[in-house]
Amino acid sequence: MESHSPTLLKVENLSKKFLIKKTLLKKEYFKAVDRVSFCLDYNQVLGVVGESGSGKSTIGRLILKLISKDEGKIEFEGKDIYTLSRQEEKKFRKDTAVVFQDPRTSLNPRLKVRQILEEPLIIHGYPKEEREKIISSSIVEAGLDETFLERYPSELSGGQRQRVAIARSIVLSPKMIVADEPTSALDVSVQLQIINLIKKLKEEKGISFLFISHDLNVIGMLSDSIMVIYRGKIMEKGEAKSILKKPAHPYTKILLDSLPPEHPSQRKKIQNITEVYREEIEEGCVFYSRCPEATDQCRTEPPYKKIDNREVYCHFA
Ligand SMILES: Nc1ncnc2c1ncn2[C@@H]1O[C@H](COP(=O)(O)OP(=O)(O)O)[C@@H](O)[C@H]1O
Ligand SMILES: [Mg+2]
Repeated sequence: MESHSPTLLKVENLSKKFLIKKTLLKKEYFKAVDRVSFCLDYNQVLGVVGESGSGKSTIGRLILKLISKDEGKIEFEGKDIYTLSRQEEKKFRKDTAVVFQDPRTSLNPRLKVRQILEEPLIIHGYPKEEREKIISSSIVEAGLDETFLERYPSELSGGQRQRVAIARSIVLSPKMIVADEPTSALDVSVQLQIINLIKKLKEEKGISFLFISHDLNVIGMLSDSIMVIYRGKIMEKGEAKSILKKPAHPYTKILLDSLPPEHPSQRKKIQNITEVYREEIEEGCVFYSRCPEATDQCRTEPPYKKIDNREVYCHFA
């Protein structure tokens, strides 16, 4: 096998703002993603966690080039995804895929499962015979059998629909899948099955995942590394095990403390994140107004501190 760098995706200082208000005099923007840098290695799951509106989906859409960046650099297999030739662009589309939260809206209700899985293969010019083979193996790999190919999405349960969405995401043998809250619309027992399916695809097919969830519990079950996002900024990123064992950023601590206690004796009292009422500040740490550990120093922008296996956006890490 040819040797290559372990890095599949490299993101540097990625930023994206959205226009939220436009008057004759001025335009108001909202910074959805603010100078975010990270790497995703081959055969790894990077979990992205943060509350709703923190910019997780925007990061996912940016790295898939579904929306355009404002600033920063995104390299996939060493190539800047904004300067790809037409041929390279086609390969990038084939090498990347997405699974969304709600399979009811992401699957076309008028197509049978077979057609849903066949569509990307037709677009990429696969001959009929090969298409048939790939469709059959993909549906089985996603944990369903071939009888499901003749059904419509409305004839499936939520979990089965999400399996179909996952089957569709693997038909082109991608190297990277962005899974954006793929378990959030499902019952807890079904969530676990989908998590196990993703783990299996990583292990057996070597696919890398950017796995997005607001639920640190879910993220902890399958991630090799974790990135904690708050207001478009990375609060903490690094090896999953060490972050879960010993969170360094006050926001990660709060997320972890608010998980349902598995071992009540080991979990501290659940802290209500809204207990801290501090003024909003224009500059400095974006977590200032909600941080229980903030001091005056936090009115200045914190550096990214490197400790153990991670980087932490905090003066006191
Ligand atoms: N197309 C858009 N236009 C304007 N604002 C947007 C757009 N997409 C996302 N946003 C805003 O950017 C922020 C981050 O959104 P998003 O990435 O969807 O967060 P998350 O996935 O973490 O819930 C939110 O405040 C959202 O309202
Ligand atoms: Mg989202």
